[in-house]
Parts: sequence; structure tokens; C-alpha cells
Amino acid sequence: MNDQLALELKEADAREEGVAALVSHDDIHVSKSTFLNGLANHVHRWFRLTPSFGPELVQEMMERLGVRDGETVLDPFAGAGTTLIEAKLEGRDAVGFEINPLLHFVNEASLEWAVDPKVLRHQLQRLESEVGKSEGVALDDLEAHGLTIPPIHNPTRWWRPDILVQILFLRRGIFATEDPHVRRLLLLALAGVLVPDLTNVTLGRLQLHFIDRTGHDINVWAIFSAHVGRIADDLESLRESGAHLRGYARCYHQNSMDLSQLRLDRRVSAVVTSPPYPNRYSYVWNTRPHLYMLGLMQTAKEASDLDKRTIGGTWGTATSELSKGVFEPASPAIAAVVGPVVEEIRAQDNLMANYVMHYFNRLTAQIAAMEPIVTDDARIAYVVGNSWIKGVYIETDVMLGEIVDRMPVANSSSLPKMTTCSRIDSTVLLTLMFFTPKSRVCGAPERGGRPRRAAPLGSALE
Ligand SMILES: C[S@@+](CC[C@H](N)C(=O)[O-])C[C@H]1O[C@@H](n2cnc3c(N)ncnc32)[C@H](O)[C@@H]1O
Repeated sequence: MNDQLALELKEADAREEGVAALVSHDDIHVSKSTFLNGLANHVHRWFRLTPSFGPELVQEMMERLGVRDGETVLDPFAGAGTTLIEAKLEGRDAVGFEINPLLHFVNEASLEWAVDPKVLRHQLQRLESEVGKSEGVALDDLEAHGLTIPPIHNPTRWWRPDILVQILFLRRGIFATEDPHVRRLLLLALAGVLVPDLTNVTLGRLQLHFIDRTGHDINVWAIFSAHVGRIADDLESLRESGAHLRGYARCYHQNSMDLSQLRLDRRVSAVVTSPPYPNRYSYVWNTRPHLYMLGLMQTAKEASDLDKRTIGGTWGTATSELSKGVFEPASPAIAAVVGPVVEEIRAQDNLMANYVMHYFNRLTAQIAAMEPIVTDDARIAYVVGNSWIKGVYIETDVMLGEIVDRMPVANSSSLPKMTTCSRIDSTVLLTLMFFTPKSRVCGAPERGGRPRRAAPLGSALE
């Protein structure tokens, strides 16, 4: 080994030890950390997003960050709204950013707690009669009834023709609802049962997979009205507990990597979030049926443009762009930390190597973009996912921690710094990371050992 290489290895070891000293892990059970935790909970059960984190994990994060009365919590990757819902339930103020129009809509609608549950239930009679009008109508007759099929590619691959006809009559009835707040909740109810109940897909694995629903007994009205009933039940409970009057919560339809145009009327003291993980899950692909059915997307170009702006897995043209050329690191810190891992992947697969580099470039840009909106003593917690790509372990927690640690200090009191992170679950590979502004050290959990490398999950995470 030559002297230069030996020196570089020594420096790399020292750096890794430095970060390892900042790392601890406490196990938090998977039933608390993932979407499974929200399935039976009030409000969280209105819409299922498989990559969501659990309400109990959000509670724990807010507790560890010591969120105080009057402080505002931010989730820059708000998804289906777990953080905003939990914050509001606890009477905290919260804001969220979400780039995907469907998930932004879900967030906003999930915070419509002032709607009177009786008024919501009252809509059911009218809507049942609207769905009743679909009887005997064939797909080809829709135009004569003033209805059009959502402009998604190959709609009958997504929906059985008879189901599609019923959904479209129901949707027209929902759109005709006068009160915009009630209308939003009814649309959310439709979005909540669209996948997987009414669409030719299964959520058995992380991504949507097409299935054949020929011969399945699917009662559109029963499925939809039962879900409206669940929402109305939850609204009643919220009223009984007075939760509908507590906490300010608002989700912005916003790219969290570019906050230059955003005018927030408050500073954020705590960030609780879970960015997309370095895997092949595309939020756009997985929300396409809802995006088109709710009228939030009209063209394939819109879908692919959104996919290009969204952090995380891609499909279609966004993927082909990633396969071209070599994506360079956006900073020397990223080059030093991510470069070696990416080169290992590049030896096997240029697309995935570019994907990983792009992922870290963007996540780093997003962390830096928050600088103007956080308070000097902001406490920041990110749940990140580690994964295996082409047999190479992507230790997102440690790598991101190292990058954040090396970020240039533009304003020493407002750039975040990782102080500790904790392993959440050894199979799901989620890790909770804490940052604070460089000048402060937050009340972080006890330091422990370095996270273990979990066994590869194979294609599920690639
Ligand atoms: C892991 S999910 C968050 C799930 C959320 N914690 C929940 O419990 O529902 C990541 C989210 O980040 C969003 N996202 C990805 N890139 C974004 C960007 N540049 N700006 C804002 N949101 C983005 C995705 O659309 C997705 O909803």
C-alpha cells in the first residue's frame, strides 16, 4: 500500500469513528414506526400511504425534540400528513411542504376537522342516488351522460369497466357538493378507497402491482359509504375531545428543495420528517390512479415532470434521464462521502449509481434550503432509510450525517448539524437522525453503539 493511500484510509477511518461517536441506536418496534401504526387510528386511517411513518413515532420525535407551546413544527416531506395530524391532535402548530398534488390534497383534506359529521353523513343519500344512475350504463355510453374517462394511459387496465362507470357517476356527485369543505372530505373518502379496493391493483408489496379483478365481488357504494362513515365517526370523536379547535396546521403545495419564493408567517422551531428513501419507490407512479381520478393531473407529461422534481425513485422518462452520463456530486462533502459508494455501484449499473448521487445531492440541498425558515435553536429530526442497491449497502444515516457535519457554515447559528441518530428497526432499516444548528447541542438520546448492518432485503428495496 502506498503512503498516500494509507493516509487516506487513516483519515477515512478517523472520520467514520467521529461520526460513529455521534451515533446511537434505540430500537423502536416496526409496528410503531411505519404506516401500520396509523391504520387503526383516528384520522390517519382516512388515507393509506404505505411509506408513511407511524403516529407514535411522530409523538416520540416531538417529545424528544421537546416541542414547546407556541412553537411550530415543520414536515418538509409531509406525505399523507402524519406529522401535521399528530401535531394538531396535540394542540401544536404545524406546517408541511408536499410536492405531490394528491398527497398535498390528502394533507389539507385530512385537516378539515371543523366539518359537522351530520352534514357529511347527510350527503350519502344524494350520492347513493347519483351512483344508482350508473346502472345499465356502459363505458361507451359515458359521453351521452356528460362523463369523461380520466386521461390516464390505458384506463381499463386500472379499472374494471363496470367499476369505472360507477366511480365516475359517484365522482360527479361529489364534485357537485356545494360546501367546499364537505366536498374535500368526500373526495378524500373516494381517494381513500380507490386504491386498493376499487382499482385493479394490490398493495401487497411496497409498490402498486396490477391484478386481475374479473369475477371479484366489488360493491362500490358499500365500500365508499362505509369509509365516509369512518370519517364521520372520527369527526365526532374530534369534536368530543375538542381537538378540532386546537393547533394551527397548514400544508403548502411546495417543493422543499426550493423555498426561495415561500413567504411563511412564522419561524419553525422543530422539524419532524421522513424524506423518501434511496429505493425505487416512485411516489408519482404509485399515486397516478388518484391523481387522474381526482382531476389533479391531466397529461403524461405532467406526471413525468413531477417525477423529475420529486426526490426518490423514478419511472419512465425521469428514469431514462438518470441512465445518461455521469451525475456529479454537488459539493466536495458529497464527493467525499457518497463518491466511493457510487463508484462501487457504477461498476455494475450506471443508472443506479446516478440515482444514488442524485438522491444525496437533493437531500443535502433540501436540508440547506431550510436555513432561512428555522429558528436559531431549531431541533431537527429526520427518519431516513438505509438500503442495499446492487449489493452495496447505502448507509444513509451515517452518510447524510457526515455530509451535514461538513456543510459550509454560512451562518454558524443556523446550519443544521447531526448530533446523534438512533436505529429504529433492524429489518426496516429506518434510522432517526437528529440535527441541531451548529452552535447548539440538543437533548439527544443516550449515545450507544454504531448501527448494525442489517441483512439485505434484496429486490424489495432496490
Ligand atoms: C416518505 S414520504 C413521507 C411520508 C409522511 N411522513 C407520512 O407519514 O405520510 C416522502 C414524501 O416526500 C414527498 N417529496 C418528495 N420530494 C419532495 C420535494 N422535493 N418537495 C416536497 N415533497 C417531496 C413525496 O411526494 C412523499 O410524499
